[in-house]
Amino acid sequence: MESRTFGKTGLTVPVIGMGTWQSYDVRDPAEVQPVTDAVLERGATFVDTSPMYGAAEHVLARTLGARRRGVIVATKVWAGSAREAREQIRRALQWYGGVIDLYQIHNLEAWETHLPYLEELKAQGKIRAIGITHWSSSHFARMATIVETGRIEAIQIPYNPREREVEAELLPLAGGRGLGVVLMRPLEKGALARTAPPARELGFLADYGIRTWAQALLNWGVSDPRVSVTIPATRDVKHAIDNCEVGDARRFDAAARDRVAALAARWP
Ligand SMILES: NC(=O)c1ccc[n+]([C@@H]2O[C@H](COP(=O)([O-])OP(=O)(O)OC[C@H]3O[C@@H](n4cnc5c(N)ncnc54)[C@H](OP(=O)(O)O)[C@@H]3O)[C@@H](O)[C@H]2O)c1
Repeated sequence: MESRTFGKTGLTVPVIGMGTWQSYDVRDPAEVQPVTDAVLERGATFVDTSPMYGAAEHVLARTLGARRRGVIVATKVWAGSAREAREQIRRALQWYGGVIDLYQIHNLEAWETHLPYLEELKAQGKIRAIGITHWSSSHFARMATIVETGRIEAIQIPYNPREREVEAELLPLAGGRGLGVVLMRPLEKGALARTAPPARELGFLADYGIRTWAQALLNWGVSDPRVSVTIPATRDVKHAIDNCEVGDARRFDAAARDRVAALAARWP
């Protein structure tokens, strides 16, 4: 599994991680335990969650168990008030052994309120790095303004062959400032992976050690060197294993990347 430095945070992350939106919002952690086991066994030791994802934040912690220490845990604060935020953070610290590796402000919600508290916790060693996330391009200009304060070390952004708005401002900014970059929605919430182009179009992928269309889409994202880690979500062990394999693939050159993007546009 290839690993990359996570901006200037001092953290090192695997290029393939895992998201938990929808997939880990289950009643019984046993339902997703095999997925956690599969990704950790293969070195995909970066996991992303949020209190916005129903039970996922707690369920993920339960499936990690004693292995939590070997994992980079990224969670989020998603609260309108300081009081609610403190309660969320207290719970997350309790579930994850007293330290969160990356604390992100979900959807920039009340960021001016939460940022000073996250900075305080970082100074106390309870948080290793602070980030911001948004899924909508209508908020990317705001994200850039917050990054310009110099108080943010990482951004989480959507990036796949059909959602490329981050190429205009956020990715160059991240590259210039040395931010950690977490790539969300690498498969466009599964939509891009569902319709694979015909096999006759995919022969060139073998040169890169890529076997499936979903793997091609994941490799497309991490072939941009400004991306630190991609976080596909799945509840399917076979998909989790396929996704992890991309950690050892050869990254696409510009021509192969263009070819994947063209295929994604033709087979929506
Ligand atoms: N901060 C934010 O605003 C925000 C917003 C959205 C997402 N996120 C984060 O980013 C993560 C990823 O984004 P996402 O969950 O929206 O979408 P995604 O990872 O692009 O797509 C997930 C979907 O892809 C399918 N899938 C996964 N691996 C596959 C494979 N190898 N082959 C075929 N299908 C595959 C999954 O279905 P199966 O279960 O059948 O595999 C699932 O339906 C989230 O889980 C969350 O942690 C953050």
